[in-house]
Amino acid sequence: MARAFVTGLPIHHSRSPLIHGYWLKKYGLVGSYQAIEIAPEGFADFVHSLQGNGYAGGNVTIPHKESAFALCTRHDEAAEDIGAVNTLWFEEGVLCGGNTDAYGFVANLDAVSPGWDRRKSALVLGAGGASRAVVYALKQRGFDDVRIVNRTVDRARELADRFGTGISSHEWRAIPELLKGAELIVNTTSLGMEGKEDGAVDLSLADRDALVTDIVYVPLQTPLLKTARVCGLETVDGLGMLLHQAVPGFERWFGVRPDVTPELRTLILADM
Ligand code: ATR
Repeated sequence: MARAFVTGLPIHHSRSPLIHGYWLKKYGLVGSYQAIEIAPEGFADFVHSLQGNGYAGGNVTIPHKESAFALCTRHDEAAEDIGAVNTLWFEEGVLCGGNTDAYGFVANLDAVSPGWDRRKSALVLGAGGASRAVVYALKQRGFDDVRIVNRTVDRARELADRFGTGISSHEWRAIPELLKGAELIVNTTSLGMEGKEDGAVDLSLADRDALVTDIVYVPLQTPLLKTARVCGLETVDGLGMLLHQAVPGFERWFGVRPDVTPELRTLILADM
């Protein structure tokens, strides 16, 4: 029986057990996927004990993504470029780490807004770990003008330096100017998340055909997405990214490539 896990601190809010549990049942597989809360000081020991405890692998979330990267012997290309790991598995007894956040971001847009990547310019709000995955994904899809704005502009600058040509960094207050000509607008900050500051950005200056997406999914309709809709812009919510980023891990541990179905989306929504 294959066993997998998700670990983070805190972890009780994670929807991953629900997602993987749904797929295990749907495909009639014998396996398990459990949430395990681990503090940073216990993370390395936890990882070293995985094989002995019969785990095929698992997911890693905040605050362990960078530590997981450091503990892996092999990395996939996305993890290498992003510098963080959210999926662990073993190959010939060797611990491998991948990053499926970028995959989840593009797979969701491919599914719900085919042709979204005909656009080639983007405005990315935020410069944390999630932003790194989004900027990597946009570069992979041929975006040649990615404008990163962040409250702490130094972090935006670091990110722009990391990914090079076509990526620029800007002060938060430059947003109104940067909106002009941005064909895709992505929020990767915690603004709008339940319990956090609202921080909706004024989108009245955005291009009429700009696509607006948020990686925050609680609430599903974030202040940014609501504002976008009032302005008549196309929107994509963040739940799909969460569901799609889970696909590659499930396939590695349990051997079946699962579908992101409307039924799965409904199941997660019912839990919110
Ligand atoms: P994650 O790994 O989820 O991206 P993170 O690294 O903590 O988390 O990044 C959170 C992002 O939200 C950052 O871009 C952060 O801006 P700073 O780098 O200036 O901290 C942004 N953020 C959080 N609260 C914010 C606020 N009140 N206003 C603007 N940006 C905010």
